[in-house]
Formats: sequence, structure tokens, C-alpha cells
Amino acid sequence: MRIISGSARGARLAAVPPGVRPTSDRVRESLFNALGQFFDGGATLDLYAGTGALGIEALSRGVERATFVEKNARAAAAIGENLRRTRLEERAEVTRESVGRALERLREHGRTYNLIFMDPPYRIATTEVEGVLSRLGALLAPDGRVVVERGDAPEEVLLGEKGVTRRYGGTVVTVFDRSDLMMSVAICPGSFDPITVGHIDVIQRASGVFDHVVVAVGANRVKNPRLSPEERVRLIEKVTGDLGNVSVEIMDGLLVEFARERGARVIVKGLRAVSDFNSEFEQAQLNQTLDSEIETMFIMATAKHSFLSSSAVREIASYGGDVSEFVPREILGTVVEAYSGTQPDTERRIKTESKG
Ligand code: PNS
Repeated sequence: MRIISGSARGARLAAVPPGVRPTSDRVRESLFNALGQFFDGGATLDLYAGTGALGIEALSRGVERATFVEKNARAAAAIGENLRRTRLEERAEVTRESVGRALERLREHGRTYNLIFMDPPYRIATTEVEGVLSRLGALLAPDGRVVVERGDAPEEVLLGEKGVTRRYGGTVVTVFDRSDLMMSVAICPGSFDPITVGHIDVIQRASGVFDHVVVAVGANRVKNPRLSPEERVRLIEKVTGDLGNVSVEIMDGLLVEFARERGARVIVKGLRAVSDFNSEFEQAQLNQTLDSEIETMFIMATAKHSFLSSSAVREIASYGGDVSEFVPREILGTVVEAYSGTQPDTERRIKTESKG
């Protein structure tokens, strides 16, 4: 592998460490032709940098500064070696943080980039790539671009076909500009034990307002759940499958951290009646204290759902009652099987004033 053009043209790069899949010279050449060959200063960020070939090619072609993010020790050492070989080490920093942590730190330091490269390992799911993408808008200069490389000819499009995509054999490269990435992302959190038609109403209405909605299934909250967090995710995916901009994930830490990591500025919750207010007010204030940049917004329940709660569904199902009005048909069988014959929900009797 060589640097193709610019000040370090022809420099041979170090041997590729095991497990690293570098962008081939041919793809790199075509990619930089498409990006406009040479640059007049500015900064580049190379995420999942591998050997650093993309960021180094950009430095060689006139970008002033580069940040390389690579967790793998041998790959990070190879980037250092390649920077020495190309005599570009003065203009670069290599960090061995995770991509999530690096993005948080760079944002805190107010850094911006003109060119961001992202070549994630193939095993990373499309939703995770989109999660990282949704955080890059904040780091991008107004005229900046993000270049995402994916291999194995992926079937799934990124961000609903935003950006310009080119194929180089099995490698797919998509270039996004800032407007493509300034998505409004909202989190709809809950225990969803189980999901009800009331929850679905709120998720559906939120999906009409925001570019992307992440349903966050609280993993720690439910004691002795009849449905594991994974099963609850599966059921929610089943009933929200027709909403193209909704994804579902397990949340096992703080909600504000979960939101921040996904580039979400908004938490959306459903509010059914005054009885919900106290607990929601408290949670919203706590979350605001933890992160003042994240807002909680409420969607008022549709009148016909204002009496409906997961705990009511659990209780009715535990006595063998009919819950078909409250739970979508596609998951009714699973819900009935999970909760019928369980101990009646004592928690509900004690906390009649709270949600859940
Ligand atoms: O459906 P629920 O039980 O009202 O959902 C509660 C949930 C999951 C939204 C809440 O427990 C939560 O936000 N958990 C994450 C932990 C957290 O951030 N706690 C501090 C703020 S209350």
C-alpha cells in the first residue's frame, strides 16, 4: 500500500496488522478523485482508522491536521509508523479511545472537522453506524463532509438513502454533507413490560415529528421480568416494523447517557393523566440536572388509551382476562403466555398513582 498523491506521494505504508482491513489503493484513489483531489488546510478525523491510510492521504493532499481514532494497539502503532514514514507526525494525533468516547471528548473540546472518514468493522450493525453518524453533525464544519466506507456490498442503505453513494467492486462509499446529518433524534424510553397500544401510539406520533426515534428498553428497572429485555425488544420491533425511522435498543445505564451517545437532544414520553405528572416531572427534572442539553417532551395520550398501562395488562393477563384491546394482535399470544398465571401485580396496588 502506498500514498497515492500529494507531499507523501509514493510513500510505502507499513505492513497491515492482522484483523485490519485497509481501504485498497484503488478505492482510495477513486474516492479522493470524487472528493476533489487536493485540499487547502482544514482538519480531518479518521474513525476506526486501521492503518490510517485515509487520514494520511488527506494530510498528504493538503489537509492541515488529522485526528486518528483506533482502539486496536497494533493498528494504532501502524498509524504512528505510517505518519513517521510520510513525515506527517507533527500534524497528527492518534488516540486509542473507543469511537464513542473520542466523539464525546472532541465535542467537549469544541473541535470541528472538514473531512471525517469512517470505515467501521463489517460486524458493526447498520443501526450502530447510523448512531455514530447522527453524532457527527456536531463535529462537522459547515462545509464539511463525512465519508463512510462499507464492504461486503451491504444491502442496507444508511439514513434512508441520504448522501451520495458510489460502489467500487464490493466496497460501498457514501459521502454525506452536514445537512444530511443534522437529524433530529428522539429517545422513547420505558420498561415496556409489555408494550401496549398506548405506547405504540406515542412512538408512532413521535416518529412523525423526529427524523429518527430510538425506543429504549430499560433493562434494570423490572424485577423478575417475565419477558427479558431482549424479548421485549423483539416484541417492540415486531409491532413497529412498519415505521422506517424507528429502532429499538436495550438501555442498561442512565437515560441521558444513552441519549447523548445516540446524538439525541430529546426524550419523548407519553403522559396519560395528572396521576403521571409527579413521577414524570421528577424524572424530567433529574434528567435535566444530569444533562441540561437534553430536553424531555411529552405527548398526551389519546383519550381512549388514557386508562391503559403495562401493569394493568399484566394484572388482567395474570387472571386470564382478555387483553386483546390493549396489546397488538401480532404479539398477543406471547404476552398472554408470558403473564397468564403469574402472581397478581402487587406493585400496582401499592403504587396506584405511578406509571408502569
Ligand atoms: O416505563 P417506565 O417504567 O416508566 O420507564 C422508566 C424508565 C426506563 C424510563 C426509567 O426508569 C429510566 O429512565 N431509566 C434509566 C435510568 C435513569 O436514567 N435514571 C435516572 C433518571 S429517572
